[in-house]
Amino acid sequence: MNDETRHNRNIQWHRASVTRMHRQVQNGHSSVIVWLTGLSGAGKSTIANAVASQLHNNCCHAYVLDGDNLRHGLNGDLGFSDIDRSENIRRVGEVAKLLIDAGVITIAAFISPFSKDRDRVRAMVGPDDFIEIYCRCPIEVCEQRDVKGLYKKAQSGELRQFTGLTSAYEPPENPDLVLDTDQMDLASTVHQILALLEKKQLVAFLSRG
Ligand code: ADX
Repeated sequence: MNDETRHNRNIQWHRASVTRMHRQVQNGHSSVIVWLTGLSGAGKSTIANAVASQLHNNCCHAYVLDGDNLRHGLNGDLGFSDIDRSENIRRVGEVAKLLIDAGVITIAAFISPFSKDRDRVRAMVGPDDFIEIYCRCPIEVCEQRDVKGLYKKAQSGELRQFTGLTSAYEPPENPDLVLDTDQMDLASTVHQILALLEKKQLVAFLSRG
């Protein structure tokens, strides 16, 4: 939708009196999108939940947006064609944008296979508000794990357009962090993410001990 369309629909932005800054000050930490991308089975949801738990235990407001979960509701009308995946990520980007405005550290766990879609979310909120983390795991390891039995279904032809097999995955070219999830344990991946948030001065509890 361009500016003219918006104008023709007589839609105006209503400014909130409680701003993101007010909320961040009240919370005692900044808000940001922590975007986890990677193949199905690379560990995104597990890492996202563990990071959210640690943040919560340290009095930070955190929320996980998870691919499988959002596809039960908001994105329940979308499939796995390239167009639907792009729309999935566009919607998630809009929700994440609202959540960071609400002062929440938003951890997004989506395959998000296309660079242009991740870049669009980054552009939507600005580079300072988007931390891209690549959960890197060889497809052979994801296939072996096959937690949800989907790789098996994809190999037998029961599932089409499966990421890494019959649908593309574009790894990030310049991510803020790479986690080799076939080599690291969960605690190390969580620690690396929290250390990055602390380094960027978004939270401050690790150094307090
Ligand atoms: S994305 O590609 O649009 O970013 P998203 O992260 O929302 O995907 O959802 C991925 C999850 O949907 C996977 O973890 C898996 O459980 C499930 N899934 C079902 N069909 C597919 C498919 N064809 N390709 C990838 N994931 C699928």
